[in-house]
Amino acid sequence: MPADPWWKRTIIYQVYPRSFQDSNGDGVGDLAGIRQRLDYLTWLGVGAIWISPIFPSPMADFGYDISDYCAIDPVFGSLAEFELLLRDAHARGLKVILDYVPNHTSDRHPWFVESRASRDSAKRDWYIWRDGKPDGAPPNNWISQFGGPAWTFDEQTAQYYLHSFLPQQPDLNWRNDAVRAAMFGVLRFWLDRGVDGFRVDVLWLLIKDAALRDNPPNPAYLPTQAAINRTLSLHNADQPDIHALVAQMRAVLDGYGERLLIGEIYLPFERLATYYGEGLRGVHLPFNFALINARWDAATIGTLIREYEASLPAGGWPNWVLGNHDQPRIAARVGAAQARVAAMLLLTLRGTPTMYYGDEIGMPRVDVPPEFAQDPWERREPGLGLGRDPSRTPMQWDETPNAGFTRGGPWLPLEQEFKARNVADQTADAASMLALNRALIALRNGQEALSVGDQRIVDVRDNVLLFERSHDDETFLVALNFGQASQPLPALAEHDIVLSTRMDDDTARSGALRADEGLILKRR
Ligand code: NOJ
Repeated sequence: MPADPWWKRTIIYQVYPRSFQDSNGDGVGDLAGIRQRLDYLTWLGVGAIWISPIFPSPMADFGYDISDYCAIDPVFGSLAEFELLLRDAHARGLKVILDYVPNHTSDRHPWFVESRASRDSAKRDWYIWRDGKPDGAPPNNWISQFGGPAWTFDEQTAQYYLHSFLPQQPDLNWRNDAVRAAMFGVLRFWLDRGVDGFRVDVLWLLIKDAALRDNPPNPAYLPTQAAINRTLSLHNADQPDIHALVAQMRAVLDGYGERLLIGEIYLPFERLATYYGEGLRGVHLPFNFALINARWDAATIGTLIREYEASLPAGGWPNWVLGNHDQPRIAARVGAAQARVAAMLLLTLRGTPTMYYGDEIGMPRVDVPPEFAQDPWERREPGLGLGRDPSRTPMQWDETPNAGFTRGGPWLPLEQEFKARNVADQTADAASMLALNRALIALRNGQEALSVGDQRIVDVRDNVLLFERSHDDETFLVALNFGQASQPLPALAEHDIVLSTRMDDDTARSGALRADEGLILKRR
């Protein structure tokens, strides 16, 4: 039997580079800062870091608007600095995953500058240009993810260009082979330098309906929702031709041995599963975001685990995510006590877990006053609570000014709460959220049953979820109490307690699963 690929056993940790560690006092995190914190990451026990975009960018969408795919933005460092980071990460056994943003470039990317220069430009067809309707209206009714039409009129050539996100993020035309060749060259550029994989931004949006048909209205739309929900994304997303393209991308990686391809895909399970591709020649891990929006109770989570597992193609490896730079912080969503249960869930489920920086210390939603708002979505659709700044605030390292993140003025504000919640304090506290996460990670790293083992849901009742992980003759039982009432736990009779989310050993004394408690038990 060939050994499992590394990414089945690893734990991925997402670094939002602007907010992780600043090394030069400009208030924005950078690569040298990440490098300074590699020992923390190996101490924590994660096996791979995914770094959100670090490439030259006007920062209209904080790096998701790229003007050069094969360089490093000076705010983050240089190519030489990146190579040092990669070297030091690899020396510690840490894999490095980059963010690949293929759906759109920045409007300042030389390709777009050339494309927009004239209708006969050699790169005109690298983007999606169309005439307006006879009355001058945009070519169709598609809406930008960040509000407003997905089309902007370009005066100079009197046509509209498509942008699924900001007007500063024109969509590439992936039906053009020259675009494919150039963008696969980008993958090779980084693979040649030794990166271990990519997280592909909005993978399910890359190919659009060839006829650019109107999307149908969404009958369930409420005005309190983001504008993007006004229509159903029938023709601008998840098109059948996407899979051949994903297979091509994957083939580029396969030329380099064991590299990892992750897809950012927000779709229901049965559609998500198709991104593993025919013969598993698609992405290795189509991100599973189901926990992010799920109602937080045992019955809902139990059903979701069953449905997700049932949707996987034969041999398709699962994965789980609790948060990222676009989503509310898990601790804010479920509360501090349940955030511990959530951590135990994430780190014991079958499938590669992806952790979001700061969640290991239970970072909350940090309120960002409107005058400090940075996120373009918040600025374009204010007041709806869509802004992502509260999940992107600086990492809380210690209780010194600016939480040890920067000696300058941080690009997003911190709340004073960092004085009570930071890595330094939690490192010294054997019962902290950080100590719990580190213990969970150590356990998962040390026990095949918990990483690559089989999984079986044993019971879901009284807001308690019980599932087993087993490998060879070892079986672990995970018991998670999503509720605030203590519940009997008969399994205590034939199991030993390995770890409680409460980080104490009172469970044995109480003989029950306490309120908000998660337990890992080992069968005798
Ligand atoms: C998804 C990214 O995660 C998000 O942060 C970004 O705004 C959009 N894609 C556009 O690239």
